[in-house]
Amino acid sequence: MKVLYIFAHPEPKSFNAAMKDTALAALKEKGHEVKLSDLYAMEFNPILKASDFPDRKNPDFFNPFLEAIKASKTGAFSPDIKEEMEKVRWADLLIFQFPIYFTAMPALMKGWIDRVLAPGFGFNPVTNSAYDTGLFKVKSAMLAFTAGAPKEVYSEGGAHGDIYRHLESITHCVFEYMGMKVLPSFMVFEAGNMSGERGDEELEKYRQRISEL
Ligand SMILES: Cc1cc2nc3c(=O)[nH]c(=O)nc-3n(C[C@H](O)[C@H](O)[C@H](O)COP(=O)(O)O)c2cc1C
Repeated sequence: MKVLYIFAHPEPKSFNAAMKDTALAALKEKGHEVKLSDLYAMEFNPILKASDFPDRKNPDFFNPFLEAIKASKTGAFSPDIKEEMEKVRWADLLIFQFPIYFTAMPALMKGWIDRVLAPGFGFNPVTNSAYDTGLFKVKSAMLAFTAGAPKEVYSEGGAHGDIYRHLESITHCVFEYMGMKVLPSFMVFEAGNMSGERGDEELEKYRQRISEL
């Protein structure tokens, strides 16, 4: 299997970085091919902007949606977007790993989605290509994340509400929208201040989960 691992944490010695290293080692051990997009290390620019489209359809007024639809036909995206699109095209499975920031993925990773999974690339409302007819029908996607809060806080009736409801804006409205199959998310709660022992246990659970993919 070809796996694109998209990772967002600013500290290489963090628990998240240890999860990423564990996953990459487990994937390679199982014989999968892996490409990594380490977004902080790459200093990936998350800002969708006019210069993303070097061959503008309308130079007088910037409509990002229409420019992306046109660029998807011609391939005229900026080089950093094209490089990431190539990795997505190549991959059978996309794994997004991150710490939860304000009950969502870090803005850096959302910016990667905005710029790379562009209109016309994974879906195309103009040709009605979404969900069952999404353009990434043969691909799968998975989230793996840590949260500072306990699981109960992210349960039905908990202060933040059911975590699955929060995840749907990505799992359903991005991944399934583009036709991808969504694999169950891997979650580590109360990750802010773990003992070394619990950290090792969580890494082992993640290693097993990744090995079973
Ligand atoms: C800007 C910011 C926002 C955060 N928002 C949340 C949140 O909404 N819910 C939550 O459970 N934890 C939140 N956290 C805590 C992080 O998710 C937690 O520190 C991280 O998952 C621990 O992993 P690490 O040790 O690898 O950094 C937030 C942290 C930061 C820096």
